[in-house]
Amino acid sequence: MQMRKFLISAACAISFLPGIASAAVAEADALPSLKWSFDGIFGSYDRPQLRRGSQVFLEVCSGCHSLEMVYYRNLVDIGFTTDQAKAMASDYEIEDGPDDEGEMYMRPAKLSDRFVKPFANTNAARFANGGAFPPDLSVITKARKGGTDYIYGLMTGYLDDAPADFDLSEGTYYNKYYPGHQIFMAQPLYEEAVDYEDGTEPTLEQHAKDITAFLAWAANPEMEERKRLGIKVILYLIILTAMFYALKRRIWSNISLEEFVHDPYVVEYEQEMQRHKRPN
Ligand code: HEC
Repeated sequence: MQMRKFLISAACAISFLPGIASAAVAEADALPSLKWSFDGIFGSYDRPQLRRGSQVFLEVCSGCHSLEMVYYRNLVDIGFTTDQAKAMASDYEIEDGPDDEGEMYMRPAKLSDRFVKPFANTNAARFANGGAFPPDLSVITKARKGGTDYIYGLMTGYLDDAPADFDLSEGTYYNKYYPGHQIFMAQPLYEEAVDYEDGTEPTLEQHAKDITAFLAWAANPEMEERKRLGIKVILYLIILTAMFYALKRRIWSNISLEEFVHDPYVVEYEQEMQRHKRPN
């Protein structure tokens, strides 16, 4: 009886859960659903897009956000030449040291450095951003519900004016997709925010797609490798199955039911069984 009560209440609790969850997210608008080149088992990153995204990151986002898990040498992985990556790194200064006199000093960043952080510490970051902390973006596409679609939505979801019945707090901006709608980050991307080196049209949507793809890559640079391995494993299993099937057919091709029934041993065995059944 106890058990039954428990089961019933557990079932009720579970059936309510989705209701609670959807009530919590109902605040933000439904996300746009985009098609990404890296979706699906055969999907892969679009290199030119990643390069455009890196340009958006370096020229816009890196003013406030760090990307601590990415090194300048990783720019070579998305198709920049080593010289280009070196030049991009050397645009940034990083603290090194101590030197022979025990002093810390600044030097241009190198391929072996991580992307330079915009602020020395959390307090400086908060102070510059009205008390809000711009999070590291290394794994942001994994860390947020909605993933890539959310990041794209966040970039394109700003409204110039909050709806009339919405009371926007001081220092915040209205975003359709940000949970609670009030975000301390001003709209970072606009049309022509970045002048693309490859000549792609610099619309807001294009910038948003490119930065999102770049951040998805940053969070998951070995995804293509994993997918390739997965496909190899599946092919291997298919071939193995086919081989075993052929082998089974070959082995059994020599054994027919007809022969088996008339095999002298089988016949003798059968007769023996019959005798035991009727001893008279
Ligand atoms: C002027 C500084 C500034 C710039 C430039 C900037 N951000 Fe932000 N960003 C912030 C701050 C501050 C927050 C924290 C907002 C808050 O807590 O309300 C934030 C938060 C975020 C978040 C987290 C939102 C969440 O769900 O918590 C993402 C994602 C993000 N920014 C992406 C970007 C991208 C991509 C760019 C470049 C296109 C960019 N930001 C440029 C200041 C900035």
